[in-house]
Amino acid sequence: MKGERLDRLLARLGLGSRKEVARVVRSGQVRVAGQVVRDPAFHVPPGARLEVNGQPLAVRCHHHVLLHKPAGYVTSRKEGPSVFTLLEGFPTRDLSPVGRLDKDTEGLLLFTTDGELLHRLTHPRHKVEKRYLVHLEHPATGEDQKAFGEGLVLEGTRLLPAELSWDQNPTRVELVLREGRFHQVKRMFQARGNRVLYLKRLSLGPLTLGDLPVGQARYLSPEEEEALYRAVGIFTDLLRGRW
Ligand code: URA
Repeated sequence: MKGERLDRLLARLGLGSRKEVARVVRSGQVRVAGQVVRDPAFHVPPGARLEVNGQPLAVRCHHHVLLHKPAGYVTSRKEGPSVFTLLEGFPTRDLSPVGRLDKDTEGLLLFTTDGELLHRLTHPRHKVEKRYLVHLEHPATGEDQKAFGEGLVLEGTRLLPAELSWDQNPTRVELVLREGRFHQVKRMFQARGNRVLYLKRLSLGPLTLGDLPVGQARYLSPEEEEALYRAVGIFTDLLRGRW
């Protein structure tokens, strides 16, 4: 096996953009199997030991799969119809969903084999944005906007500030959350005396559905993967030796 290009691999691990990691490599800060390698195009043999500034990097082989979830599927392995049946051909055994979408919710659902990434994407500390398209029974109001923006109190818990917006039609709104509590969107509108009729997740941090058809799944591109690792601070923590 030929292995993976050094610059691509380091970027995938979250060390920076391809350009940034190429600079680090050229400056002689990177060792592969104990040898300094200055060529960003060098192919790293699978399993080779990598060091940056003398600090070992574990080469992780993780997969991240993005699904355009249709309504009618459950985010569960045990209950059906399961979203996992839509991931045929992907390494489903080791993939876990990053949060859940309700059975009747559509949209972006990410799966990953990386437990640390999953933890960071779902922990409110990292405030990863999730954007939803929401169709409502009644028009949203300026008071809803204000209440969500200030942090709604739901059953005694104050939520993180959320942004509510719409163009022309206040029953077709977008809501940006920075946490993911159980049935959060539906419960937020319910608390305001409204009801969600249709819900679709449009984005998760830097990831969007693009033109991925409903019911289809695909691997993340290296650029998406890099942006995702960056969004949850794995790059920074790696350099600080905290991870
Ligand atoms: N909020 C909900 O109420 N349902 C979802 O599926 C996602 C967010």
